[in-house]
Amino acid sequence: MSSENITRGKKVLVVGSGGRCHAIVDGLARSPRVGKIFCAPGNGGITEMAECVDISVTDVKELVEFASYHGVDMVVIGPEASLEAGLADGLIEAGIPVFGPTRAGARIESSKEFAKQLMMRHAIPTAGYQAFDDFDAALAYIKSRPLPAVIKYDGLAAGKGVVVAITMEEAEKALGDMLLDSAFGQGRVVVEDFLEGPEFSFMCVVSGRKVYPLAIAQDHKRAFDGDKGPNTGGMGAYSPVPFVTPEIEHEALEKIMQPVADALAEEGIPYTGVLYGGLILTKEGPKVIEFNARFGDPETEVVLPRLESDLYTLFESALEQKDYPLEWSDDYCLGVVLAAEGYPESYAKGINLGKLDIPGVWHMGTRRDGDRYISAGGRVIMVTGRGATLAEANANALENVAKADAEGLFHRTDIGHHSL
Ligand code: AMP
Ligand code: GLY
Repeated sequence: MSSENITRGKKVLVVGSGGRCHAIVDGLARSPRVGKIFCAPGNGGITEMAECVDISVTDVKELVEFASYHGVDMVVIGPEASLEAGLADGLIEAGIPVFGPTRAGARIESSKEFAKQLMMRHAIPTAGYQAFDDFDAALAYIKSRPLPAVIKYDGLAAGKGVVVAITMEEAEKALGDMLLDSAFGQGRVVVEDFLEGPEFSFMCVVSGRKVYPLAIAQDHKRAFDGDKGPNTGGMGAYSPVPFVTPEIEHEALEKIMQPVADALAEEGIPYTGVLYGGLILTKEGPKVIEFNARFGDPETEVVLPRLESDLYTLFESALEQKDYPLEWSDDYCLGVVLAAEGYPESYAKGINLGKLDIPGVWHMGTRRDGDRYISAGGRVIMVTGRGATLAEANANALENVAKADAEGLFHRTDIGHHSL
């Protein structure tokens, strides 16, 4: 009998390769119910807690075959690219339990206009908008309204398809890039009213009308201190977020997250997975900036470490639509991303990271080479700290960052500044 057949406990396949995936694998590894974790393709750090298999996150056929051959009990999908490729649809068709929405559900992330229309139909608070595929019409609309204008490319653009135009020149350039240039692909934009207030991330596990709220986090999207520089995939995060009081969280749940789950269910779109609300706290209360159809990165890396309930049981409860009240540590968790110099533009890969023997480290873009790690992406690692206060978590995180021998990497020193 192969060692696999005598493995006790559940077998899980986690799809993804970033820090989010490392944190999910870690959460599952802490579950006494899980006996075996595969990760496709994984990264350097994940090799320590899962069997990494070299299958691309968008290779639906291979992933379904792998899951089926190994008799996995559940597949957990990390990245949007897998959702977009129809991985959940393929797994459902093959009868394999999957945590992650189908392509139809993932449209809440992949199509800004779909998300906006859904919110309008169900009176969910968000910025007013109009969609355009014609440059002149879009420009005329923007000219008829107060600036700034928020211009969003309608499709997956890895966080780079949003321009907050302060001047008409900026607006015109953004519209030109998105509607006249073919760099983005098929051209369509959403022009939104500008909302003001601090942003926060509210991830909920959703299964039909059932919503299991996760702890609130805040991401830092700009590359440099003081929220300056280009937008990135996220340079740091922390959880919980003091300005999001229990009352505001309750309001966001009752006016946004639950109604969206209900809206999807009512419109016949089955949804099982994480629904990520990118929310903004305006004077009129929380409103939606965007939805994602998956765990946020890097928010997941500071939220899941605080979860004291069993992650496998949470996913399983969602699949079976059973209640599962979640317990959280009162600790703050704060994480600082170390990225390759040049990120988010061009940057070097293959940076020697040594043994990375430091506490609270998540691998984002690394691979293993013998007993050391090598960088394999723009965002390389996230180093976290915990504490009874946010200041303590921050001090611990920065102390851990100093332990990383980080030549060729840069990081922000002000993660959490909105709340510190
Ligand atoms: P998105 O990709 O939709 O999350 O947008 C990226 C960033 O652009 C957000 O995190 C916000 O900081 C900003 N943004 C997007 N939409 C708006 C809006 N309607 N008002 C103000 N800022 C926005
Ligand atoms: N942290 C933002 C995202 O995951 O898209």
